[in-house]
Amino acid sequence: MEKGKELYSGKAKSVFETTDPTQLVMVFRDDTSAFDGIKVEKLNRKGMVNNRFSAFIMDQLEGAGVATHHERLLSETESLVKRLDMIPVECVVRNIATGSLCKRLGVEDGIDLTPPTFEFFLKNDDLHDPMINEYHIRSFNWASQSEIDVMIERTFEVNDILTKMFSAAGMLLVDFKLEYGRFDGALLLGDEFTPDGCRLWDTDTRKKLDKDRFRRGLGGVVEAYEEVAMRLGVDLGQPIA
Ligand code: TMP
Ligand code: ASP
Repeated sequence: MEKGKELYSGKAKSVFETTDPTQLVMVFRDDTSAFDGIKVEKLNRKGMVNNRFSAFIMDQLEGAGVATHHERLLSETESLVKRLDMIPVECVVRNIATGSLCKRLGVEDGIDLTPPTFEFFLKNDDLHDPMINEYHIRSFNWASQSEIDVMIERTFEVNDILTKMFSAAGMLLVDFKLEYGRFDGALLLGDEFTPDGCRLWDTDTRKKLDKDRFRRGLGGVVEAYEEVAMRLGVDLGQPIA
């Protein structure tokens, strides 16, 4: 698969056109950013780990009936994906209160949320990804009511699938962010699922195994991602056809 013109370069990934107008190449870089791009570092091997990790999760989700953009791994750091018309909204499900939720609502860090809660954020770094509601999404035509309904339902479905998967591997899926896009009249899960965009705690010790290690300067960031991958059975060494 020949990479064409670079379409977009985000904080951790770059996206290239291919000869097929319906497909893109996503390149996972080692760049790691937090606080909307204020803290940035290159972490060795992170692009490779995240590329393989996201492909693994997307395959698992497809197997469980969730339609995603993922086609196949192309190389250590590249994946072939369907070209989606992205909805500029982030869908967050939280099983345990932490992060911005605690700052915003003054609730205790670490309490279980029963039922899990859901939030929409606008994808806009300059505005620091403000929280928005369904009315904003409809009034600004970012998505239709039926797309909103699908995003909420699908994100909770992903939560059910992944909570069980991480739990079986000794981890708590604390919260995560998903992004969706349109393809051929359907809504597909796009972007990525990696420890950059979720929070994972060891079930017994509650040790952080996600990007909070970077945000908080705890060290061992990629090592933690590799530990998560190993516990799930993601083969980081398997040859890519
Ligand atoms: P928050 O506590 O900072 O709102 O984040 C909630 C979860 O969503 C956390 O797992 C990180 C993820 N997230 C992103 O990956 N990117 C974002 O821009 C936002 C707002 C959240
Ligand atoms: N808002 C997310 C974070 O704090 C993503 C980012 O800023 O890069 O990490």
